[in-house]
Amino acid sequence: MKGIILAGGSGTRLYPTTKVISKQLIPVYDKPMIYYSFSTLMLAGIREVLLITTEKDLPAYQELFGDGSWLGMDISYCVQSEPRGVAEAFILGEKFIGNDSVCLVLGDNLLCGNQVTEMLQTGTKIEKGALIYGYYVNDPKEFGVIEFDENKKVISIEEKPQDPKSNYAIPGIYFYDNQVVTYAKNLQPSSRGELEISDLNQQYLAAGDLQVELLGRGIAWLDTGTCEGLLEATSFIYTIQKRTGLYLACLEEIAYKQGYITREELLDLAQPLCKTDYGRYLLTVAQDEF
Ligand code: TTP
Repeated sequence: MKGIILAGGSGTRLYPTTKVISKQLIPVYDKPMIYYSFSTLMLAGIREVLLITTEKDLPAYQELFGDGSWLGMDISYCVQSEPRGVAEAFILGEKFIGNDSVCLVLGDNLLCGNQVTEMLQTGTKIEKGALIYGYYVNDPKEFGVIEFDENKKVISIEEKPQDPKSNYAIPGIYFYDNQVVTYAKNLQPSSRGELEISDLNQQYLAAGDLQVELLGRGIAWLDTGTCEGLLEATSFIYTIQKRTGLYLACLEEIAYKQGYITREELLDLAQPLCKTDYGRYLLTVAQDEF
């Protein structure tokens, strides 16, 4: 399975910061926002990743990640010239996807919790259709929202509805079979001029090929695209890391624990950072203490 990470968009809800900085490079506590969604792909065991961003921001991402080999990953890049919608990822990524299935993650979403790794690994095993998740939130208006019938069967998906039909929002991580490219090409821009991921999911639903898994409250899903969301995510990461002394979305640690890089390679990455907390943490990871 291939992975696509979307780091374009306009980021208008984080203006004026996003006038000059790509939203997904803004720090969430101690690391760039995109580290969190990138870690999601790594935990899913996906190693071939296409990062899609704007022409202006592309050099910054290339500098941050390079070709990914330092993490045992294989990263390629693609420009989205205008924010024409999340579902355009599959049109831009057609060649990259080839004959494979694909997982899309939004670069401003953060997912963590005990069962996340198992949940992701189920996703990577899908052979036919699509798998998306539902997460109960207080105010789902800003998201794709799932409508269920009385037997909890999904009957519709609506993007940013004024009057949501349930509290189940769809987090920014989606698994698709290869049919996704054809479905994406069938889409017409919505009234806000975007190729909507919800319309794409609706096509899978109509074909009887959409699986929806509801996530429990042991999993934290945070959207960091607003000032309030960013503040909440920052304090969440700070609180967990302070309490446990363990990092969330430390890419070098994940690469080491997934067996993508050796202890020697991890130590080489840690060495130049020895004077920082991050570097000292990597040294502890290399001692296999946790
Ligand atoms: P959104 O948060 O829906 O949109 P945005 O990033 O443009 O922000 P705002 O609404 O504040 O203007 O996007 C979700 C994710 O998808 C985010 O990581 C940006 C990315 N994205 C793209 O890469 N291309 C696009 O065309 C769109 C709409 C979003």
